[in-house]
Amino acid sequence: MPTIVVIGGQWGDEGKGAVVDRLVGMEKPTKVVRFNGGGNAGHTVKNELGEFRLHHVPSGIFHPELKRTCVLGGGMVIDLAKLQGELFELENPKPAVEVEPRVFKVNKAVSVEDVKISLLAHLVMPWHRLLEAQEEEMRGEARIATTGQGIGPCYSDRAGRRGVQIRDLNHETALKEKLNLLYPYNLGKLREKYRAQLPSQEMILQELLSLAEELKGHFADTEEMLAEAQNKGETIVLEGAQGTLLDVDYGLYPPFVTSSHTTRWGAYLGSGVKPASDDRVIGVFKAYVTRVGEGPFPTEDTGEAAQQLRNRAKDRGSAEVGTTTGRPRKVGWPDIPLARYSQRINGFTEIAFTKTDVLDELEKIKVAVAYRLGRKSLSIPPRDIGDFRNCEPRYSDMPGWCEDTSKKRRVQDLPEEMKAFLRGFETGVGAPIHLIGVGPKREEVIDLGERNLGSIL
Ligand code: IMP
Repeated sequence: MPTIVVIGGQWGDEGKGAVVDRLVGMEKPTKVVRFNGGGNAGHTVKNELGEFRLHHVPSGIFHPELKRTCVLGGGMVIDLAKLQGELFELENPKPAVEVEPRVFKVNKAVSVEDVKISLLAHLVMPWHRLLEAQEEEMRGEARIATTGQGIGPCYSDRAGRRGVQIRDLNHETALKEKLNLLYPYNLGKLREKYRAQLPSQEMILQELLSLAEELKGHFADTEEMLAEAQNKGETIVLEGAQGTLLDVDYGLYPPFVTSSHTTRWGAYLGSGVKPASDDRVIGVFKAYVTRVGEGPFPTEDTGEAAQQLRNRAKDRGSAEVGTTTGRPRKVGWPDIPLARYSQRINGFTEIAFTKTDVLDELEKIKVAVAYRLGRKSLSIPPRDIGDFRNCEPRYSDMPGWCEDTSKKRRVQDLPEEMKAFLRGFETGVGAPIHLIGVGPKREEVIDLGERNLGSIL
């Protein structure tokens, strides 16, 4: 069976968690793997077990009926204390609460026994968050507005060969020696204000040892496990975090990106799974665009339509606020040049188009079909950040459908205006839409299976 790679096509928050949750139920993989990022991610899943927010654990965790292992791959950077809390909450969910009239979160316990963590994954150490806060302060007005989870400094240490890995936790003496080297080194990099917040070396060591003791049953040679699964022809799902436009190499643009590889290519690198020509590569795109943090955003809207979108998203149970940070996300119009760029980098074999129901009440939808840069018309964003900042979107106005689509389950039943909108996106990007999300719940989806819009409409 081919490997299925799920990648965010935009700036993250496209709804990958819900797509993976559903996909796992349908394709029944034996392994579901997160391969990049860490505590900066926030994958929201709503299903019959309740509503969950995952930071490290793959969204395949909610299928207890399947014999599947959820893997935290070697490309991840893991905050062990945060992960411990996440696993605990999955096993000991908070009691059901009423969140708004007639809507309940009914969290049921989930077994985390099958969660395995790669020995190669790196640990986010207490100094990483402090170094990040210090750097953001140093940048001042030019700050990246990161999630504050220590992700950048942790990946920098990985590249600089100064990282602490899961495998180090199996060797107490070597771990102590590593801390003897790293603690004073990092203390020296921190200014007084931040230095005072760093726990002592002994406290850090004891905390690591106690977390390792508790979590060691999850540590595994996951690369070997995945190679075996692949040799046996088992189905593997690789679940991306963040989105293509935040990729450390291909994102638009440094420094307004995360520090990991968020694309299809990062999926292989961060899991150890070999690419194959028949892999399915699913690009997840939200029907509009959002962004958290700083950086250019050509189709951003701060007016009435944006407020309408926010309100509708909130009403539909997926308010546009950061899952990890609680920051409001900036909102903008659908952007074909960006999506086309994403397609060019990843080579998606199909598209999962999410949150279309959020557009239900708009009378007019502005779709950016190209950029104008001076006298030039561009079909994909320019590589130069200055040029990108100066790009003006060229919009095509499409009529909205002004109809509730959340109950639709067949593409034939969708309003004509919505069909035209979907076809326009698919044609503009150059990959077929196979899944249309019409709400945050598992069942609120139109699945085209093997067929595509063109063959049905
Ligand atoms: P970092 O990953 O915390 O270093 O943040 C770098 C940039 O990526 C910032 O603009 C963040 O807002 C953004 N970012 C990181 N993780 C996510 C995510 O899961 N969703 C959306 N944006 C993210």
